[in-house]
Amino acid sequence: MHKDLERILLSEKELDTIITRIAAELDRDYSGSDKRLVLLCILKGSVVFMGELMKKITVPVEIDFMRVSSYGAGTETTGSINIILDLLRKDLDQCDIVIVEDIVDSGRTLSHLTKYLKLKGVHSVRTCTLLDKPERREVDLVADYVGSVIPDEFVVGYGLDYDEKYRALPYVGILKREVYEK
Ligand code: IMP
Ligand code: MG
Repeated sequence: MHKDLERILLSEKELDTIITRIAAELDRDYSGSDKRLVLLCILKGSVVFMGELMKKITVPVEIDFMRVSSYGAGTETTGSINIILDLLRKDLDQCDIVIVEDIVDSGRTLSHLTKYLKLKGVHSVRTCTLLDKPERREVDLVADYVGSVIPDEFVVGYGLDYDEKYRALPYVGILKREVYEK
């Protein structure tokens, strides 16, 4: 385990089981659709989850990327969402989009993005998150696909960062408070 971690919350094996289950749910829900299924990875935190998830889905699937910012270098939200990289494709009315997020905290990112994509004329939008911290919710947001509900702790690894660090850890762990509280 990395020395900056309090403990491991989800091991590689547990993550694999969770993602296998979500992929099966997506296969079940989209197998009959005549639209194009697009997994929309929200950079950068979702990149590891997305990579594993897409390999396990058996229905035809396309991928795309957006980047938004809601946080600075720290652990607290600012409440505002900026689109840094937008979706460029023109056939959105032919797309069933599943937004793939690393974690839902206040809920603002997924809430804003869902509304934004509907305004752009997407055929359907659903949300999928690896981790969910419901205790932190500030807006009414329930993700359609949830990997694991976790306690209100700051977690890193498997794509999630603190100050751009720890993204490459193959598991999810709770960051020691002394790392970000000085
Ligand atoms: P929300 O808009 O408040 O739901 O924030 C979601 C985003 O905040 C996630 O995509 C993460 O980038 C970031 N975030 C929230 N909680 C954590 C955490 O515990 N560790 C790392 N990033 C987090
Ligand atoms: Mg993120």
